[in-house]
Amino acid sequence: MALNRRLFLQASAATFAATTLAGCGGEDRVVIDTSLPVGPYNAKSTAEEVTEGIDLSGKTALVTGCNSGIGHETMRVLAQRGAHVFGTGRTLEKAQEACDSVKGKTTPLALELSDFDSCVACARAVAAQTDSLDILIPNAGIGTFTEFELVNGIEKIFVVNYLGHVVLTMNLLPLVQAAEHGRIVHVGSRMGYMSTPKGGIDFDNLRGEGAYDAALAYGRSKLANALFSLKLSQMLDPAYTTSNAVHPGFVKTDIGRNATGIIGFLYNNAATIIQKNVAEGAATQVYVATNPSLDGVSGAYFEDCNPVKFNGPNHVFDVALADRLWRETVAMVGSYFEVPVPA
Ligand SMILES: NC(=O)c1ccc[n+]([C@@H]2O[C@H](COP(=O)([O-])OP(=O)(O)OC[C@H]3O[C@@H](n4cnc5c(N)ncnc54)[C@H](OP(=O)(O)O)[C@@H]3O)[C@@H](O)[C@H]2O)c1
Repeated sequence: MALNRRLFLQASAATFAATTLAGCGGEDRVVIDTSLPVGPYNAKSTAEEVTEGIDLSGKTALVTGCNSGIGHETMRVLAQRGAHVFGTGRTLEKAQEACDSVKGKTTPLALELSDFDSCVACARAVAAQTDSLDILIPNAGIGTFTEFELVNGIEKIFVVNYLGHVVLTMNLLPLVQAAEHGRIVHVGSRMGYMSTPKGGIDFDNLRGEGAYDAALAYGRSKLANALFSLKLSQMLDPAYTTSNAVHPGFVKTDIGRNATGIIGFLYNNAATIIQKNVAEGAATQVYVATNPSLDGVSGAYFEDCNPVKFNGPNHVFDVALADRLWRETVAMVGSYFEVPVPA
């Protein structure tokens, strides 16, 4: 079989960006932000460990992509700690099966992120069942091994990983704001700063106008997750509602399910030796969603259960880019917002 060079380069980029920073000069570039609360946890901590002793009884949470990987473990542990968790799957059957597989109070919901009407319907279904949402974790996503496709006229990874979650989040925002201390935890990726087009977001290529590189398209979508988090943190009063983004680590999940052949073997099997398991992979988002020390912390970016900052230029904290992305986003999907957007 001839090795598809393009796919090989994409897999290499994905694996490179996802693995430990050691050896790529990243240690100097991404450092723990000691101006924010730093906890006792690290890359080996699990979601159960970071929630030890935390009682989430009476709290409500929503996790997208609850039927697989990091999302399933996130739902499992939040429910174990007492939260009522709304878990979404692309079909109600998938969500139901996932909810049935964990202990605690869970409610399955259908959510197809490439269908903005489905995102609106999902938010409405939640609003019909609860007056407030303490934790919102837009977690679902598709990975680097996605062939080029336009959905609603826009590149598919951007639609699924970013735009669909924006529609869902904006329509759920009143519920999160109704919680005493609502927290939104956006699941980004290190690819969002290690594999993006020039300038971070290539606005002139969102509709497939130029070349398609799946690794860059994935990184672009994950940077968009982080910039949306930053924008929301500016819109919301952190005393009541916070918005933060995380990189979960390089985790053994089904995200590489579309990778086949040698690439599939390397990504889904050989890489296991450097990957986190799902318990470790879910830890950072569960920590950011629940740890009391993070009350009022908003607009931050977390890796391995700690806030990080970047030495040198980066787009993760690029306020001007976040503003432009927000304007373009409202132009693309603003008509699906059924609630007022905070100023
Ligand atoms: N694994 C890693 O190394 C890694 C690294 C950095 C960031 N992340 C991020 O972590 C998050 C979770 O990924 P994972 O690794 O746990 O992958 P996963 O096991 O493949 O889970 C992805 C979830 O997203 C759902 N999903 C995919 N397309 C969807 C759509 N169109 N509408 C609604 N839901 C959809 C999937 O549903 P189906 O099962 O029905 O397709 C599944 O529940 C993603 O945002 C990913 O980008 C992962």
